[in-house]
Amino acid sequence: MLTANDIDAMDYNQLIGVVRETNRPPGGLRSIALLARHGFLARDSHVLEIGTSTGITAVELAKLAGCRVTAIDINEESLREARRRAEDEGVAHLISFERNDATDTGYDAGSFDMVFCGNVTSLIPDRERALAEYTRVLKPGGFLAAVPMYYVDRPSDRLIADVSEAIQVDIQPHYQDFWLDFFSGPQRQTYLSRAFRFDTLRPADVDRFVDDILRRPHLAELPADAREVLAKKYREHMQLFRVNLSHMGFTVLLLRKERVEVEPELFTSSPV
Ligand SMILES: C[S@@+](CC[C@H](N)C(=O)[O-])C[C@H]1O[C@@H](n2cnc3c(N)ncnc32)[C@H](O)[C@@H]1O
Repeated sequence: MLTANDIDAMDYNQLIGVVRETNRPPGGLRSIALLARHGFLARDSHVLEIGTSTGITAVELAKLAGCRVTAIDINEESLREARRRAEDEGVAHLISFERNDATDTGYDAGSFDMVFCGNVTSLIPDRERALAEYTRVLKPGGFLAAVPMYYVDRPSDRLIADVSEAIQVDIQPHYQDFWLDFFSGPQRQTYLSRAFRFDTLRPADVDRFVDDILRRPHLAELPADAREVLAKKYREHMQLFRVNLSHMGFTVLLLRKERVEVEPELFTSSPV
């Protein structure tokens, strides 16, 4: 049974597992569906999902395409919830949830048709190593699906410091170009790139959401002081993310691993 001290020591990614939040990639189900469709996922596809958290992306890909998914995370509490979700949704037979690190998975080279990394790569200190690992385990012709989040206007230093502390990651305020440059390269050609901006929510919208989450029956089993710490921490985190996301956007990005290196496209274009 978790104590107040256990919960006090947790960062946001661990709290997600405790409250069983549906931790979606940016853009939620629409991003997942867009990437599944444009990445030609089918029943015989095998996807590696990085940083699955409580499993929504893995479950949704299995439901949409009937494909096999190997979904990894370093956080066991979230993986437990992800396995429960897959059972409830009737797709547990298609998904293997494994505790594993994105930078050194140990999977054979060329074993996946898609690597789906959502917005996870920005949380990994050695992101170059993670990208090299995604590329290594992809089949030639396979797709890398990413949904990087970034600032669309300049955040204050205070906001960056507060978010860094909440998620225990040293956040650098990057913008869209940084992530497009990071993911593309001679071995990875961009097939889809759609940019969005987060909506601005009111504090009351977040409070309502948090109240609903905190009423979940399984949380009633916690000792009263642990519940109190959880409620305070979770609400503070969500209100902080509300402010942070009002300065942010994301791009739904699909890149293909090429067999041969190709020069970059010169005459690029945009929808009008
Ligand atoms: C914000 S949540 C992911 C949300 C959602 N799945 C997405 O696609 O954006 C980030 C998750 O990545 C996990 N994570 C962080 N570093 C990792 C690593 N090196 N390898 C695997 N998972 C990692 C965290 O434990 C957390 O559950």
